[in-house]
Amino acid sequence: MADDVGWGIVGYGWVARDYMAPGIREAGHRLVAVCDPGEASRAAAEADGTRAHATLDGLLSEPDVEAVYVATPNHLHRGAVEALAASGKAILCEKPMAAGLADAEAMAAAIATTGAFYGTAFDQRHHPAHRTMREDIRSGRIGTVTTIRILYACWLGREWTSRADLDNWRIDPARAGGGALMDLAPHGLDLVDFLLDEPIVDIAALTQSRAQDYTVDDGALLIGRSAGGVLANLHVAYNCPDALPRRRLEVVGTRGQFTAIDTMGQVAGGSLTFTDGTSGLAEAVAFDAAASPFLEQVRAFGSALRRPGERTAYSAERDLHTMRLLARAYGMPPAADAAATT
Ligand SMILES: NC(=O)c1ccc[n+]([C@@H]2O[C@H](COP(=O)([O-])OP(=O)(O)OC[C@H]3O[C@@H](n4cnc5c(N)ncnc54)[C@H](O)[C@@H]3O)[C@@H](O)[C@H]2O)c1
Repeated sequence: MADDVGWGIVGYGWVARDYMAPGIREAGHRLVAVCDPGEASRAAAEADGTRAHATLDGLLSEPDVEAVYVATPNHLHRGAVEALAASGKAILCEKPMAAGLADAEAMAAAIATTGAFYGTAFDQRHHPAHRTMREDIRSGRIGTVTTIRILYACWLGREWTSRADLDNWRIDPARAGGGALMDLAPHGLDLVDFLLDEPIVDIAALTQSRAQDYTVDDGALLIGRSAGGVLANLHVAYNCPDALPRRRLEVVGTRGQFTAIDTMGQVAGGSLTFTDGTSGLAEAVAFDAAASPFLEQVRAFGSALRRPGERTAYSAERDLHTMRLLARAYGMPPAADAAATT
């Protein structure tokens, strides 16, 4: 039986239209209203039978909206989340939590003060392959985990845009807060935390501006170490042709290895393999290949909205720690980061 949550969306662009709205409908929930200053974005919502407001106040006045998904460019997350927290509506905010650490700290403070139910939309936690892998890691199938290796890359040229009416805010440091590292590494850092049940605590990174003609980084290599000593290695990039292999997750242990290919991303499917550490034999691992991470994300958030005991799966403080890791990866002390974003 679906939880039938009434949703609102702030920012009805690419990810909201192509992934979140279908996820809401497929889960049996309702998309009640959106807010977006863009006429074309509002028209797209209205064409699907959804009420569309030009401002957040309009959305806040909708009594049927219980949970709100925030999917604006990164620098606008803070204002929306603060207003939503004050309104008492539940909030699922896209990654990165904010364009800079100072904004994320202010958001976490607002959530703590109001007691709002808040989650960052780390959809990769909800990919069925990743959930299966997590359970198998916990049951000891690969022994002691030693290393996680992630490749998550794409091609993002200057002219890239999600829609003809929207510009490429991802290459604008003021709106994005960074480049490939800021946009793509949050997924991997959070996934490591999810798979291990412990955060990365030490981090270092090198960025590059190698193949694209804009100022934000177009690639980065990160190395991290979890609280328990697992090493993580992330390669993120905006300079990798989409036709190349570019979405790979490996979890290595003393008794075996999981390899997930094409599971990172917004869509269902991909493959998951277990390789035995003694025989070297590889076998496919079954998971629900039909359920997208966005569908499962909607279900999980709706369920936690209805059953407060499940809200421990969400933590603004944990997500703030991920923002601190990103700032450290960029070599930014908190004060410099605050100055860069105000
Ligand atoms: N989890 C994922 O896999 C994933 C994928 C894509 C994007 N994202 C995140 O989602 C967010 C949106 O990304 P996108 O690619 O959909 O961007 P987009 O440019 O396609 O859409 C952004 C929308 O926000 C609207 N907007 C601008 N100012 C606004 C305001 N003040 N109030 C309300 N709406 C406003 C724009 O008109 C546009 O419709 C970003 O934070 C991005 O990092 C996450």
